Amino acid sequence: MLSTQTKLEVLHPAGQIAGRVAELGAQISRDYAGKSIILIGVLKGAAIFLSDLARSITPACTFDFVAVSSYGRGAHSSGIVRMVKDLDHSIEGQHVILVEDILDTGLTLAYLRGLLLQQKPASLKIAALLDKPARRLEKIEADYVGFTLPNHFVVGYGMDFAERYRNLPDICLMPPDAPE
Ligand code: IMP
Repeated sequence: MLSTQTKLEVLHPAGQIAGRVAELGAQISRDYAGKSIILIGVLKGAAIFLSDLARSITPACTFDFVAVSSYGRGAHSSGIVRMVKDLDHSIEGQHVILVEDILDTGLTLAYLRGLLLQQKPASLKIAALLDKPARRLEKIEADYVGFTLPNHFVVGYGMDFAERYRNLPDICLMPPDAPE
């Protein structure tokens, strides 16, 4: 199936994403029944996933966002990650779920997890819409995963290629030879 907007090949259509996100939300709701949660989204890729996931979670929850930049991102990341937007509020003693679009090499989430743990949250879990385990460089796993992918570059549903395609409702495959 091809995306109606772009003619890119669709990997996960919008309806399938909605069903899987609702399942993750139900699982999180069971796991955190009677507790309140802070969802921390990693900008910008996780914004759409977080907004859908939050609406399928029944326990009380608040949002915060962080942004990171990584030098040399692209085909060859240097592995140096830097926070460019910090949390607005302390998470000490709170139940935190870090919400990310893709767990790829793991460098970003390993860095963020280390920083967040310094604030001594009551608990810290990771929700990743997509997991590419074959690309992992850091020892890190997500507690909640939407879909596991082979080593494909994908766009849509918040994820970009050179800042484009974030608004596509489906998750689409980006051809390896695509121009920026
Ligand atoms: P990691 O530090 O290598 O785990 O990087 C994760 C980040 O790389 C994600 O949050 C995305 O921003 C980006 N990324 C990795 N794979 C893809 C992809 O297939 N499409 C779009 N962005 C990606």
